[in-house]
Amino acid sequence: MKNNPKVEDNFPWDQTMRNHFTTFPKFLISSILLISILCIFYTVSFSNSSNKDLNIITAVHGGREEVAVAPPPVPSPKPSPSSKTTLRQIVFGIAASARLWDHRKNYIKLWWKAQMRGVVWLDKGVKPGIDDHLLPQKMISGDTSKFKYNNPKGHRSAIRISRIVSETLRLGLDDVRWFVMGDDDTFFVPDNLVRVLSKYDHNQFYYIGSSSESHLQNINFSYGMAYGGGGFAISYPLAKALAKMQDRCIQRYPGLYGSDDRIHACMAELGVPLTKEPGFHQYDVFGNLLGLLSAHPIAPLVSIHHLDKVEPIFPNMNRVQALKRLNIPINLDSAALMQQSVCYDKTRSWTVSISWGYTVQINRGIFSVREMEMPARTFLNWYKRADYTGFAFNTRPVTRHVCQKPFVYYLSKVSYNKVMNQTVSEHVQHQVSNPDCKWKMADPSRIERVEVYRKPDPNLWDKPPRRNCCRVLPTKKKGTMVIDVGVCGDDEVIELR
Ligand SMILES: *[C@@H]1O[C@H](CO)[C@@H](O)[C@H](O)[C@H]1NC(C)=O
Ligand SMILES: *[C@@H]1O[C@H](CO)[C@@H](O)[C@H](O)[C@H]1NC(C)=O
Repeated sequence: MKNNPKVEDNFPWDQTMRNHFTTFPKFLISSILLISILCIFYTVSFSNSSNKDLNIITAVHGGREEVAVAPPPVPSPKPSPSSKTTLRQIVFGIAASARLWDHRKNYIKLWWKAQMRGVVWLDKGVKPGIDDHLLPQKMISGDTSKFKYNNPKGHRSAIRISRIVSETLRLGLDDVRWFVMGDDDTFFVPDNLVRVLSKYDHNQFYYIGSSSESHLQNINFSYGMAYGGGGFAISYPLAKALAKMQDRCIQRYPGLYGSDDRIHACMAELGVPLTKEPGFHQYDVFGNLLGLLSAHPIAPLVSIHHLDKVEPIFPNMNRVQALKRLNIPINLDSAALMQQSVCYDKTRSWTVSISWGYTVQINRGIFSVREMEMPARTFLNWYKRADYTGFAFNTRPVTRHVCQKPFVYYLSKVSYNKVMNQTVSEHVQHQVSNPDCKWKMADPSRIERVEVYRKPDPNLWDKPPRRNCCRVLPTKKKGTMVIDVGVCGDDEVIELR
């Protein structure tokens, strides 16, 4: 309540709040509010400011401060600040353009759910579509022509986009903990976004996202910047602080290129560093994401960006179809999505790497886990080079040796067995001509399908990160490999031999 109430007057909170309650007797609300305010006042004045008391106060206010200006009627029971963040408490602001809307809306439809809240911010109006009920509401961004923009390479729409968080805040939605920004070509895994954000206290200042895969991009922009397409989250109080200064801040940086570097510049002025979460993926790459997605960091996968720049993530289908397929494992066990486990078929001397919900790869020979956890360079960097120095993380080359080419099995279907409480994923061999290998060892080409069993664990990320273990199980099924994936047992270690 230390903020200047004048600034808050600019926000249309009270209007939105009032709309909800027109049917309620106004005097009753006013008296309840008066009593609540008095209670709060006395709690503040007379209790020692132990943490417990402060928690009670924020609980009454729902963690917000507008009460001081226009006391809102008390709607549904307010969650305590320690309660787990829900999807509804995250409000999305999606940057879109009218020109690409008809194409890009198909990506948003893949992850958007009716219970979510958010706005697609457009530069101008688009025709209503028959699928509008499957998409967030659309709004036109405020006029930004008065702002200076003089970057020779970029486009001044960057200013409009950088103001999305502030403009979304000004809608005055209730019970918001986080604002999440994304592009129209960003695919989110909403449940994993909830998992990541619920680790942080939304009553504090947080700026959460990730940097680029491209070292050069990070040098040009900053390693401390959250890349907008990968998506980033700003806590409610930070969004409020940003909204108060952003328009002045934008005017101080007319030479910047994009929207996310403008946000970063304002964050730097506010003194709030980037909290890096490795599950947000800008994916400043071209080509095949196979290498990256089959060696995902041990963290929940939150987003995939640049859907139009990379190849469809499953072969022989278009981009939208491929992401629809990914939605099947996401609906069954989102926490485990793209989690890599590595194990060995000791009798046949094969290394098996699983990326849950996506691929199984069988390699002839024994590779260490530290090698397998490095993404193979199946993709090019942003400057269209395959050079390993171009990346901001370790990579390994795609092997040229005919015997070391991995056999890739893509997910074909997944189901959940209620009795066993486990998912069964079926993977089929990607039909590519197998180069002739003269090694005198078992040939994985005989394996046509791989079955992966895993017990879903919705609380996987409440524990410190740890890679799951996998085990190659004996089977009599011809041409099939059966693998169990799950929490490592006591003393279970993935050992070479
Ligand atoms: C980033 O740096 C490279 C190499 O100096 C340059 O070619 C490229 O245009 C730069 N990109 C931006 C957006 O500044
Ligand atoms: C299935 O197993 C997981 C992990 O042991 C457990 O958390 C979950 O509650 C179980 N679900 C059911 C329906 O039994």
